[in-house]
Amino acid sequence: MFSNKDITQFAELETPFYYYDLALLQQTLESCAEAAKVHGFHVHYAMKANFNDTLLDSIKSTGFGADCVSGNEVKKAIERGFNRQQIVFAGVGKSDKEINEALDENIFCFNVESVQELEVINALAGKKNKVAKVAVRINPNVDAHTHHNITTGLDENKFGVNAWDLPACAEVLKKSPFLEFIGIHFHIGSQITNLEVYKNLCLRVNEFAAWFEDRGFIVRMLNVGGGLGIDYHNPEQQIPDFKAYFKIFGDFLEKRANQEVHFELGRALVGQCSSLISKVLYVKNGKKKNFIILDAGMTELMRPALYQAYHQIENISKQSSAATVKYDVVGPICESTDCFGKEVLLQESERGDLIAIRSTGAYGEVMSSHYNLRENVRVTFSK
Ligand code: LLP
Repeated sequence: MFSNKDITQFAELETPFYYYDLALLQQTLESCAEAAKVHGFHVHYAMKANFNDTLLDSIKSTGFGADCVSGNEVKKAIERGFNRQQIVFAGVGKSDKEINEALDENIFCFNVESVQELEVINALAGKKNKVAKVAVRINPNVDAHTHHNITTGLDENKFGVNAWDLPACAEVLKKSPFLEFIGIHFHIGSQITNLEVYKNLCLRVNEFAAWFEDRGFIVRMLNVGGGLGIDYHNPEQQIPDFKAYFKIFGDFLEKRANQEVHFELGRALVGQCSSLISKVLYVKNGKKKNFIILDAGMTELMRPALYQAYHQIENISKQSSAATVKYDVVGPICESTDCFGKEVLLQESERGDLIAIRSTGAYGEVMSSHYNLRENVRVTFSK
């Protein structure tokens, strides 16, 4: 629910824009930090979810590290003041340039996704006479029970080293003087709401950790990735249940003394703190369907077009009246998939009404594009 003060603030601004509620972000971060502390777990923020500077500054101040997936994300994390010893660099296709730059910055760790990548990092680190800390990302073949486009931990996915490649991996690690193995890494998918999935992941992590130990490796770190989902159908349910989430890992990981457990959360930290605020440009009442045409489109928020993702839509100019009309809520882009929701029950709407598309803090602003030569996406923050 938006207050009258929010709506007055919105009415003065040019639409569309992302609105960020910084107080809610702060509460979410604190709730996560507190729940992680109980178990002594380390949290890295998955920057890909949103690399807006203002958000990054709050996240860094909470003491979280940064999980980066490109050289530019590594640079951005350093620029925003994240501690280099809390920066990890993951990604299935790191270029030589990106690896070299990360080596120069002495980041904490590379999450390595193939045997060949281990060889490349060893060679590049050798040229600099440096030792790179590495964790092996293993594909555990655990079903995340989420949308197939955001599942990453199955045999058919491109991510991580498959179990059958681990012997080759161990061999390369043993003969590479410029690599220091520190642990194993997993990430099985995103928007995971069934916590049972994480229990299955823990059991696989235990097996893989034992596999490495049996071969003489010391597994100093277990990185279990991110993926904790948010409630898109109920954006007022603002803070995910971090306690229950971390408890699963506390209960089922066979943690060794002095072993660190790392997490890479993105969506759960920033997803609910934002809405995309847009205006109704036109209302078309047809025989079969009614359309609301917004000034925001898939260029601002791509998730519905790309994954048929659900985002709650509200007419915030008419909050007090009853919702009685079904509309297809669409954008101005020349694509049929440019649709935020079909048959959405809303108050009778008119040109100029403000429409909020909720839960857009993660993978919203960062996935916007210039298609149709659209303007840069605007943002505003809670006062
Ligand atoms: N760690 C790794 C290795 C990842 O690939 C990801 C997300 C994360 C952590 C953070 O996951 P999270 O906690 O945010 O679920 N654009 C899609 C989501 C793609 C997720 C990519 N990887 C969406 O809009 O749903």
